[in-house]
Amino acid sequence: MSGQATTEIERGLEGVVIGKSAITFIDGQEGILRYRGIDIKELAEKSTYEEVVYLLWNGKLPTQRELADFKRNLAKHRALPREVRSLLKTMPKAANPMDVARTAASFIATYPAKKAETFEGANRRKARELTATLPTIVAGFQRIRKGKTLVNPNPRMDHAASFLYGFFGKKPDEVARRAFDTISILYADHEMNASTFAAVVTTSTLADLGGAVTSAIAALAGPLHGGSNRRVMEMLEKIGSLDRVHQYVEDELSAGHRIMGFGHRIYHTFDPRAVILKDVADDLTKRSGQRKWLDIALRLEEDIWEKRHLRPNIEFYAAVVLNELGIPKDLMPAVFACNRVAGWIAHIYEQYADNRIIRPLTEYVGPSATPYVPIEQRS
Ligand SMILES: CC(C)(COP(=O)(O)OP(=O)(O)OC[C@H]1O[C@@H](n2cnc3c(N)ncnc32)[C@H](O)[C@@H]1OP(=O)(O)O)[C@@H](O)C(=O)NCCC(=O)NCCS
Repeated sequence: MSGQATTEIERGLEGVVIGKSAITFIDGQEGILRYRGIDIKELAEKSTYEEVVYLLWNGKLPTQRELADFKRNLAKHRALPREVRSLLKTMPKAANPMDVARTAASFIATYPAKKAETFEGANRRKARELTATLPTIVAGFQRIRKGKTLVNPNPRMDHAASFLYGFFGKKPDEVARRAFDTISILYADHEMNASTFAAVVTTSTLADLGGAVTSAIAALAGPLHGGSNRRVMEMLEKIGSLDRVHQYVEDELSAGHRIMGFGHRIYHTFDPRAVILKDVADDLTKRSGQRKWLDIALRLEEDIWEKRHLRPNIEFYAAVVLNELGIPKDLMPAVFACNRVAGWIAHIYEQYADNRIIRPLTEYVGPSATPYVPIEQRS
């Protein structure tokens, strides 16, 4: 007997509440998302990524002084240690950037605790290191694989400017910086999604924060989760023109395929993040004068709604925004990771503060007691 059998199984843990959390509130019927009680629309409009990270980790918005200290602290960790630079250079150029981010995060977590540092102190340090360096890692890997030299972070730049600077090697304009800041805020947390759950499960064994973040990046990579922004852009390119949207939808749905960037476990109405990103995409395309991908996306949204009553999720317009910003498709999931790290860490802190090992059950459906057959007697 492996344990007491469960009577009801919720596939994919749908609707199962696994704990209490004071971090993020979602009302999937009304399309409401709040971080620490503050509506995502207000945060996207008025705050910055650093303010949001502070809010998620500390449960309150920072004062001017607290924010200045926090930003300084993050900026201090942005430059890559020599060993991480070497590690990035040894990675295959064809590596999936998510795998690179996961490996580098795990590598950073190997730095031993400093003298007299407590487990909690080491975790707080790792939290800042990972949050600050993951964007530099992702941007830096792009430069390395393109044969370009790494850019040293400018400590006066914020998270968004620093990422784009590390990626393109020149200071971004304000429209691009603000767009990246907004997408970073929207990606920062989303309650108990699959990658956050992976982080929380790892934390519940009292493993260290670096290990928990590494598990989360692995879980985020799949196409049903953070890997879908890339698949959305691949799909838009495959469709290629407005007149082909209708046929594409017909073909994919009749073949029983999923349309990437549509549907959500929690939202049964608009995903408020998709609504915000649609406007950001519109702003960016006004600037570039290139509406092709946005127009295809808008037509696709109409078509899928008509045929399946499914709404776009964050990844749908995130792909359009990231593409407008010049981020290549295969790097899009890694951009998600280097922003979601903020939310993972908030949930990791919450789990450490009130921990019990997470150890659910499965209902055993395999063979009953079976004798061991020696190898020479097996047919
Ligand atoms: C997000 C997602 C994984 C949620 O999955 P879920 O909560 O398990 O939902 P289900 O897989 O049970 O889907 C419910 C129904 O909607 C359909 N559906 C859900 N998403 C769909 C999509 N993107 N395209 C076509 N049909 C979809 C399913 O086929 C299913 O239909 P059925 O009841 O007739 O079988 C799912 O919507 C999906 O695969 N979306 C595409 C990937 C994506 O965009 N992921 C990013 C999430 S932020």
